[in-house]
Amino acid sequence: MTTPSLPLPDLDGATTLVAGGTGNVGFFAVDSLLRAGADVLVPTRSNAKFDRLRSRLAPDLRDRLIGLSGDVGTPESARGIAEQARAKTFGGLDAVVSAVATWHQGPPVLAGGFDAFRDVIESRLYPHFVIAEAFVPLLKSGGSYTTINGPVAFAGGVHSSTGPIAAASAAQNRLMLAIADETGGDPRVNDVVMWAYLGPNGTRPGSNLQGEEVGAFLAWLGGPDAGEVHGRTIHLRTPDQVRRTLAGTPQTGDLG
Ligand SMILES: NC(=O)c1ccc[n+]([C@@H]2O[C@H](COP(=O)([O-])OP(=O)(O)OC[C@H]3O[C@@H](n4cnc5c(N)ncnc54)[C@H](OP(=O)(O)O)[C@@H]3O)[C@@H](O)[C@H]2O)c1
Repeated sequence: MTTPSLPLPDLDGATTLVAGGTGNVGFFAVDSLLRAGADVLVPTRSNAKFDRLRSRLAPDLRDRLIGLSGDVGTPESARGIAEQARAKTFGGLDAVVSAVATWHQGPPVLAGGFDAFRDVIESRLYPHFVIAEAFVPLLKSGGSYTTINGPVAFAGGVHSSTGPIAAASAAQNRLMLAIADETGGDPRVNDVVMWAYLGPNGTRPGSNLQGEEVGAFLAWLGGPDAGEVHGRTIHLRTPDQVRRTLAGTPQTGDLG
């Protein structure tokens, strides 16, 4: 399915960073930010994944994609990546999107045991602290910090097999709202609960929301028209919600 072209903010001259930019969600954030005119820094542990990301982008966008080498999910390495980012920016970053870590489904919580639970919390929740700690200080005044979350902690029921990731996801949300309170709105900090299904080759069949719509929304959130949007948990569910927001006419509830 093709998505009609969506309006994008003017981010000409902006410098942005997408943690997890080589991933399923990150690709759409990177693509939209580049289309909006921004330079985009992408930390990665894998040259092959960076090369694949680059190859998925239109040729005229590739010059503004900048790779940074390392694991953004561990404190020391994230600090090293922040130093690389600082060296490539003049005056700091305009926007950061964090779309790291991945889905997890396992055995029932207690049957899975403590080590499995700790692994999920360490690999899915800790990176959100580490990345915020490294990159929030690099944001310019008026900048934007956005994390991607999933519906598992917010949907009606909680299934035993997704218990650990639901716990990580709920904790991610409270963590980001606490950091939002700490920044007081400068920079802006928001957690986007994304109800699309995105895979390595784009939007998965059956997803109501397209990856391009998610990307355009994330670019909007990083831009000047979202200047009042801070400290929100935004459930991104429908194409209409995205179109209303990009057109400057969001309805009550569209932005959390
Ligand atoms: N995909 C969906 O449909 C969907 C829906 C709702 C919510 N989400 C949420 O969105 C986030 C991203 O999902 P995704 O499907 O895009 O995952 P993904 O394809 O696995 O991408 C995750 C990216 O995170 C990066 N990363 C960097 N440091 C990491 C670390 N220490 N541990 C793990 N990953 C690290 C990886 O980059 P390198 O390997 O290049 O370093 C990887 O490309 C997750 O939190 C997920 O729950 C996804």
